[in-house]
Amino acid sequence: MTTVASKVVVVGSITADVTAFGNRLPVPGETVIGESFTLVLGGKGANQALAAARAGASSTMIGCVGDDPFRDIVLGGLRDGDVDTTSVTSVPGPTGVAHIRVDNTTGQNDIVIVPLANSSLTPDLAERRLRAVARSGDVLLLQLEIPLATTFRVAIVGRELGMTVVLDPAPAATLPDEIWSVVDVVTPNESEAAVLTGISVSDVDAAVVAGRWFLERGVRTALITLGDKGVVEVNEAGAHSRSTPTVKVVDTTAAGDAFAGYLGAGLANGLAWSESIDRGIHAGALAVTVAGASTSLPTADAVDAFIAAQNHDREDASCARTQAP
Ligand code: RIB
Repeated sequence: MTTVASKVVVVGSITADVTAFGNRLPVPGETVIGESFTLVLGGKGANQALAAARAGASSTMIGCVGDDPFRDIVLGGLRDGDVDTTSVTSVPGPTGVAHIRVDNTTGQNDIVIVPLANSSLTPDLAERRLRAVARSGDVLLLQLEIPLATTFRVAIVGRELGMTVVLDPAPAATLPDEIWSVVDVVTPNESEAAVLTGISVSDVDAAVVAGRWFLERGVRTALITLGDKGVVEVNEAGAHSRSTPTVKVVDTTAAGDAFAGYLGAGLANGLAWSESIDRGIHAGALAVTVAGASTSLPTADAVDAFIAAQNHDREDASCARTQAP
């Protein structure tokens, strides 16, 4: 009997990222001269599908694009990255757009996303597409850039089909309490965790409290990402904090997508839970060292090399401590 490998299925947004890079962000009402501009594939859903494929998983995208010239840009970006786009639906009208500004000095960004075609991903359409491709054991990656009712419906269907349901609650939104009982893993950053739980997540201890909030509502594992303060994991076995490698910040856009995509790929490929999280952390850290969103998602080789270099540095540090008089 041949076994079919598990895959990552993403139900989420696909956008054209229209990005301006400048030496500082304008304040309201101000115009500043920028340095450079890119027009590439983006959207949290598409980025996570691409990250999962770059991590070496079989990756399928379910979403909607328009019938304008941006459609070819975004579908080309997904296909070039080995993401299966046969479950993407083209609808009349414009493809979704994310208008991004990046401060080259600090690496910080702000984003206005206009869903456009993404709004056409109705619960019925997404459920139909999901049932056609999903198998028990597959990993379902969800975010919050498509209609909330759709995310809710596919989370329920994903659980029913025996998938591992991973929700990245970004951008932050108020969610119905019922969603948590069908979510296996939730991956908010500190501000998203604060919006969802009402707990101000300023440090590791507060993140643990927020993590327990999700568990009390039915989530199996909460992974709260705290930027350079690491990742806090809370599950029924307890709470555990992991550090994040120190890197030079160029652009933080899509760091969360790199984390989610690599986490999902690790789980689909049968890696140990701990290793899947660790690869997600290293992928997220590498993503902030490169400008852009989909353009910053690292390859598996880059993540392997980065992890090896970190381990090497740790061994050197431990030798130096052993040899110290
Ligand atoms: O997470 C980064 C993404 O958020 C960008 O690619 C942009 O499309 C926005 O949706």
